[in-house]
Amino acid sequence: MKQILVIGMGAGDPDYLTMQAVKALNRVDVFFLMDKGPSKDSLIDLRREICARYISQPGYRFVEAHSPQRKLDDLDYTRSVQALNRDKQRTFEQLINEQMADDECAAFLVWGDPGLYDSTLRILQAILAAGRCSFDYEVIPGISSVQALAARHKVPLNRIGRSIEITTGRRLAAGHVSEADSLVVMLDAEDAYHQVADQEQQIYWGAYLGTADEILIAGKLKDVADEIERVRKAARQANGWIMDTYLIRKPE
Ligand SMILES: C[S@@+](CC[C@H](N)C(=O)[O-])C[C@H]1O[C@@H](n2cnc3c(N)ncnc32)[C@H](O)[C@@H]1O
Repeated sequence: MKQILVIGMGAGDPDYLTMQAVKALNRVDVFFLMDKGPSKDSLIDLRREICARYISQPGYRFVEAHSPQRKLDDLDYTRSVQALNRDKQRTFEQLINEQMADDECAAFLVWGDPGLYDSTLRILQAILAAGRCSFDYEVIPGISSVQALAARHKVPLNRIGRSIEITTGRRLAAGHVSEADSLVVMLDAEDAYHQVADQEQQIYWGAYLGTADEILIAGKLKDVADEIERVRKAARQANGWIMDTYLIRKPE
């Protein structure tokens, strides 16, 4: 039976890899690397670096595949992500059917943790449900960007006994926010922190967490929101892409 490992690689720093992930890496015959274009080459390089650093026996191989991109002209976000996942499903099926033998172990190195805003598990489950490939799979958790954010700002995510909501910039901008008093925002393409009604709230913002380019800004929204917008625009221009996450909460 083919084995597939979905390994959380942490959100940037190779030192975020867990011991469980290191043991898993050492079982792998073939790593499937999803190529997202030249601006994201450094993310592929990091995966290669992780393998070189943590795998003790040579003999493993890489297979790179072009990662389909979401069609930005479709205004229905959920529908466009579902279409993207169908395209990815075809790519994954091809990799599993054509690039690994029956007794081999393959792996996807998933950014951060595979359980948080990542489609790999959903796609593998859809492939199994469609019955066109058969394999066993395991999930190895990783340090997510949310955990990295809390650690780098040295703050707990929740207030005592209270809840946290993890949401997207798109939902925040559209006003879909619960009563949770700590809000973590990911995937923000539109500077949604400007939309928060109470600008007296504290924001803990982090970009490229765990990498050499890491940027941290914290303060009251009304004091730092413009600075964050300026810094993230400049960073996106300099690097060609940005990954940032932030925590917003009411004062104690
Ligand atoms: C597709 S999601 C992947 C999340 C990932 N599975 C995780 O566990 O963090 C991508 C979003 O995660 C956040 N993110 C991932 N890595 C990050 C990093 N190193 N620094 C800041 N934010 C990051 C950003 O909000 C980005 O838009």
